[in-house]
Amino acid sequence: MSENYNLVIKNGHCYIDSKLIKKDIGILGDKIKKIGKIDQKDNKVYDATDKVVLPGIIDTQVHFREPGSTDAEDLESGSRAAVLGGVTSLFEMPNTNPPTANLIEFEKKLQAAKNRMHSNYAFYFGATPNNTEQLAQLKNVEGCCGVKLFAGSSTGNLLVDKEADIEKVISSSDRIVSIHSEDEDIIKLRKKFIKKGDVHSHPEWRNVECAMSSTRRVVKIAERFNKRIHVLHVTTKEEVDFLAMHKKNVSFETTPQHLTLYAPDCYDKLGTYAQMNPPLRTKDHYDRLWVAIKNNTVDVLGSDHAPHLKINKEKEYPNTPSGMPGVQTIFPVMIDHVNNGKLSLSQLMNLMCENPCKIFGIKNKGYIKENFDADLTVVDMNKEVTIKNEMIASKCGWTPFHNYKVKGFPVGTIVNGKLVMVDGKILIESKGKPLQF
Ligand code: DOR
Repeated sequence: MSENYNLVIKNGHCYIDSKLIKKDIGILGDKIKKIGKIDQKDNKVYDATDKVVLPGIIDTQVHFREPGSTDAEDLESGSRAAVLGGVTSLFEMPNTNPPTANLIEFEKKLQAAKNRMHSNYAFYFGATPNNTEQLAQLKNVEGCCGVKLFAGSSTGNLLVDKEADIEKVISSSDRIVSIHSEDEDIIKLRKKFIKKGDVHSHPEWRNVECAMSSTRRVVKIAERFNKRIHVLHVTTKEEVDFLAMHKKNVSFETTPQHLTLYAPDCYDKLGTYAQMNPPLRTKDHYDRLWVAIKNNTVDVLGSDHAPHLKINKEKEYPNTPSGMPGVQTIFPVMIDHVNNGKLSLSQLMNLMCENPCKIFGIKNKGYIKENFDADLTVVDMNKEVTIKNEMIASKCGWTPFHNYKVKGFPVGTIVNGKLVMVDGKILIESKGKPLQF
């Protein structure tokens, strides 16, 4: 019997039911229609022989700077970088200018994304001390992944730092509240630890207690109101140990940077390019984050892609902005860690595919399954690449992983059934869609 598909992914080792199994995948429209042996006659074929085929990778934290700082990034350039790095879906942050903190700005962002994004997407709604009424009405808002609360100040002017306001946001939101967890009072108090011209002082300023104090506070609030929260970019061993005991209402993520770079080496080597919030810390924190990855305590990985132009990153610390790009490198860096035995492939799939879907309720993604969305990341596990600034599609044009060697690389990205990237080239101007929750 002849079968017709728009695309057949042939002979790949597909990640199905937590195992790699050699199968063909028949795609019709934007869905996986059949998994099995498929007659290739009359069908467009992508030959995935010797390749690993994974569910599309999800990056749960990126900043694409539109509106406001589109010289550093926009929705098109950021999502182009995403698919080049094997990412098929992402959550984008509201600390733009103006911030995405009311329904009008949210709708504008959704409209701006239409027909311009290469990957699928959802947007965070920014919390302020005064928009709790709107936070209570987000359940059915298309393309909204949750509420973002900055408990400590970072790039942009979104901030909810008073305990009573944090309570108001967490208790009133009808969506998960994801938190940038640093304590604003401690940030202010410890400014005296900033050493002009020396970025090594960044983690002294925004120290462990700064993160831990905020995390204790938000977890306590979530438990008191029996609400779900998600703590973003966790960086300290103290938070990891604390969060491991409070998982009922709380999930959390860390970043590939914090699993790959540590102080003081990162600041010696990268200077202010290594400056981010919360900061890169010493190796004991890095080691504990890895223990938490190994024992499955970490739920999700997000790149915290935060592009800033070189001209700003090269100012004198602390006049330099915090943040580094990462949406294009999150998957290559993490698949290299899989190849090096730091975590298993199924742990990576939990962190970047299955858990984001479970925690945030993304529909029809995260798995290679019949009738699920045809978002796939094809990987050559043996391909060795030295990451270079020149490869970076982000408008910022640099990466903290310049000259970093990885083994394992995405060679194909399929979004909504369309082959959008092959061997580092964008094939079609894809039309990413809002994620469904
Ligand atoms: O370092 C950071 N940069 N941390 C954040 O939370 C925000 C980000 C940005 O938008 O630049």
